[in-house]
Amino acid sequence: MSGIKSVGILTSGGDAPGMNAAIRAVTRAAIYNGMEVKGVMRGYRGLIYDEIIPFQSNSVSNIIQKGGTILKTARCKEFTTTEGRKIAYEALQREGIDALVVIGGDGSLTGARIFAQEFNFPIVGLPGTIDNDLHGTDFTIGYDTALNTIMEAVDKIRDTATSHERLFFIEVMGRECGYLALNGAIASGAEAAIIPEVVEEEDQLRNLISNGFRKTKSSSLVLVTEGEITGGAMAMAERVKQEYPQYDVRVSILGHVQRGGSPTASDRILASRMGVAAIEALMDDQRNVMIGIENDKIVYVPFSKAIKKNRPIRKELVDALNVLSI
Ligand code: F6P
Repeated sequence: MSGIKSVGILTSGGDAPGMNAAIRAVTRAAIYNGMEVKGVMRGYRGLIYDEIIPFQSNSVSNIIQKGGTILKTARCKEFTTTEGRKIAYEALQREGIDALVVIGGDGSLTGARIFAQEFNFPIVGLPGTIDNDLHGTDFTIGYDTALNTIMEAVDKIRDTATSHERLFFIEVMGRECGYLALNGAIASGAEAAIIPEVVEEEDQLRNLISNGFRKTKSSSLVLVTEGEITGGAMAMAERVKQEYPQYDVRVSILGHVQRGGSPTASDRILASRMGVAAIEALMDDQRNVMIGIENDKIVYVPFSKAIKKNRPIRKELVDALNVLSI
């Protein structure tokens, strides 16, 4: 037996749809198994500034369908310092919290890993980020909802793009990970995705233009992952204006709309399964692992593996998009 009697939950980093479903699942699974639950507000900040509240089963009623996070979230600078983490540890001791469930992306799980090692404190992570950039899990919580938001937005942009016969560069989130752009392009029938994983290997813009823009189609939609590696949609549009002035180009940056909205059924189910699994993992004496899902099975992924940079993109998806956009 793990001896864990009280569990703290926090959400950290960028919010993602489905975080509330995960909070609900962790809370209910902990209570079901006889544990006490405390909600930590504003990520690691709540530990440092003592914003910790007791949770009952009804604290998480009526939230499964809500976007954002009822615990609020933050990117906490203080927690990156040794002094900050010491204050956080003292708060956990004071509150009698024996273990933490941290819901967040790579930055949040990196913080969790350092803290768990420093204080030998049990932490289980849940992958909460729209970016789908964590290793060891097929999907992260929030990714499916963001993908659906992107698809709906691109469907709308298509109407105006075809009417005006324009080339559109649509910038999506993902940091250094191209999954949102690539699967967003496949789902919306776009012509191409310019993603960080491929950008160093080839000039994706030149390929797009030489492979047929305007040969068979009068309009084109290209999804571009944000950030320095691709240069983003604005940079792409500038290049086209310089190198191919004959094209009528427009840019649309989808921005934070991608992080909002009610989670899809897939995200709610994923978050619920992962939340239950987090409590089971703690009862099973698992430490410093992220809950992942692979081939529809729950897996435990060591933090060190989950947060490695540059999750590879599946080449089969890149190839499929190329085939489909002839
Ligand atoms: O990690 C989630 C994410 O939405 C990224 O896709 C994006 O680069 C970043 O967060 C934006 O962060 P912020 O909301 O702090 O500007």
